[in-house]
Amino acid sequence: TMHCAVIGYPVAHSKSPRIHSAFALQLGLDLAYGAIEITPGTFAEQVQKRFQEGYTGLNVTVPYKEEAYVLADELSPRARLAAAVNTLHHTPDGIVGHNTDGIGLVHDLTERQSVELHGKRILVLGAGGAVRGVLGPLLEKQPRELVVTNRTVLKAEQLRDIFAPFGPIHAASMDDLSGTFDVVINGTSASLQGALPNMPATVLRPDTVTYDMMYGANDTAFNAWAQSQGVTRTLDGLGMLVSQAAAAFTIWTGLTPDAEPVMTALRRELT
Ligand code: ATR
Repeated sequence: TMHCAVIGYPVAHSKSPRIHSAFALQLGLDLAYGAIEITPGTFAEQVQKRFQEGYTGLNVTVPYKEEAYVLADELSPRARLAAAVNTLHHTPDGIVGHNTDGIGLVHDLTERQSVELHGKRILVLGAGGAVRGVLGPLLEKQPRELVVTNRTVLKAEQLRDIFAPFGPIHAASMDDLSGTFDVVINGTSASLQGALPNMPATVLRPDTVTYDMMYGANDTAFNAWAQSQGVTRTLDGLGMLVSQAAAAFTIWTGLTPDAEPVMTALRRELT
């Protein structure tokens, strides 16, 4: 039996056990995947203990992605750039930290939803940890331009400085946004409070694709707003969740699960 788990605080709400158990079932893999709540201040000792007990992998969720980044013995290039780790892998060489959030988003957009990113103009709202985790993989797709905007512009400018070597990234305040965008991605935590980032509707066209990294039974506040402005294609983050899990599963097992039936089941359970 292979042992893996999601660790966080809180962690009871996590869908990762459902997702990874479904992947294992598909592939006939004997996997025990749990959810472990870790009390703040005990992260490193708890992680070391699980790996000593023989765990293969841990998924890391709020609020521990930065602590996992510090703890890892080795980092993947994407995790290094994200400065955050969502997947820990116990290997003979030590604990390797990965970040699959960005490839999860990009895989969901380009493979599952057939949204082209190459050569496109992309707007990203927010400049927190969630956004930092996805900018590298978005730039790997070689958009024409990637603009980061944030309530606190300074944080968008800091991200621009970090990612500028990897592609055409710019920072702008919400008031200074000009032109329209092919893809608009909401990476703020505003949707959690049912709030809207204060973004001008002029960035949208009817054929703009919006993507909210959050998801829920109903349209997020951001996607509902985009629809009210005439946008026809609004996507939520459920596909990103399942796709980042699939990438982590592949790191641990070398196997490629089919995200599609798991997506369908989760979507049905939301409503
Ligand atoms: P996360 O890990 O989810 O990225 P975070 O690092 O705290 O969390 O970042 C939250 C992001 O959501 C930030 O970009 C934040 O904007 P500020 O940097 O200006 O704080 C953004 N955010 C949160 N609530 C918001 C709101 N009501 N309107 C606009 N932006 C909001």
